[in-house]
Amino acid sequence: MPKLDSIIDAQQFDYETLACVFKIAREMEETKCGDLLRGKIMTSLFYEPSTRTRLSFEAAMKRLGGEVISTENAKEFSSKAKGESLEDSIRVISGYCDVIVLRYYKEGGAKRAQDYSDVPIINAGDGAGQHPTQALLDLYTIKKTFRDIQGLKIAMVGDLINGRTVRSLSYFLAKHFPDNEIFFISPGRVRMREDIKGYLDRYRLKWNEAENFNGVLSELDVIYQTRVQKERFEDDQAVYEEMMAESEKLIIDRQKLERMKSSAIIMHPLPRLSEIRYCVDKDPRARYFEQARNGLYIRMALLKMVLTGY
Ligand code: CP
Repeated sequence: MPKLDSIIDAQQFDYETLACVFKIAREMEETKCGDLLRGKIMTSLFYEPSTRTRLSFEAAMKRLGGEVISTENAKEFSSKAKGESLEDSIRVISGYCDVIVLRYYKEGGAKRAQDYSDVPIINAGDGAGQHPTQALLDLYTIKKTFRDIQGLKIAMVGDLINGRTVRSLSYFLAKHFPDNEIFFISPGRVRMREDIKGYLDRYRLKWNEAENFNGVLSELDVIYQTRVQKERFEDDQAVYEEMMAESEKLIIDRQKLERMKSSAIIMHPLPRLSEIRYCVDKDPRARYFEQARNGLYIRMALLKMVLTGY
């Protein structure tokens, strides 16, 4: 039985593995899965705050009978605070557990950790780099809605330069689902980075770029909204304020709902700030809380695939 090794980025997945992830996630969603991971230990090592990723991974592990060890706020309460390097911490921790779920504040953190770990590393977000398990749950949500991920017009909206979720999602779409069209909609200063656009071109996935929804809102099938990432603007509060002001025209509100397709869906990796009005939550097209719940099933599937095989 093959095992999934470390999960570092979206590009590492082939189509067959992706199909297995979705199949096993569906099984996790529909059936009780017993104590598949009894005797296994997962470390959750988060150097940045998290609600969904950390708690859904921890819940996934426990629902499958496994155990979890962790340090609160690793940046402050692990030996990082005494000056220990990520590499040394990983060398030590990998001797205590069977898998490490790592959120790091710098791009490339998960890859650095993988190079020094005796156990698989799962990238739970590395700075503005990638968030592959989020993108898997995003795809799972799209697939559950539309069955086939093809022929869709997908808008990724907001702070795209810093958005690790939209980067991973773009990689997955380009490599495995190029028969779609992406609309990157953001203030000019935080537009999607060139490396992603180059990757989309390589796989011939059609993409467009704009600073507002004008002319496309009524055509979109998926609106993937994101927040302006305050933590990436720590050195420039003025730019953060400017981006917040410029993003106001992108807020999903009642007026925009009226112009959207009845079959469209609104997604968001969460947390949200003001980019989706609370009144939108009651609309059946709002799928972000269902999306967050899907994270549990995807992460149960991934832990099974990493720890026992598939
Ligand atoms: N979507 C996401 O990564 O949320 P958290 O930061 O709460 O984990």
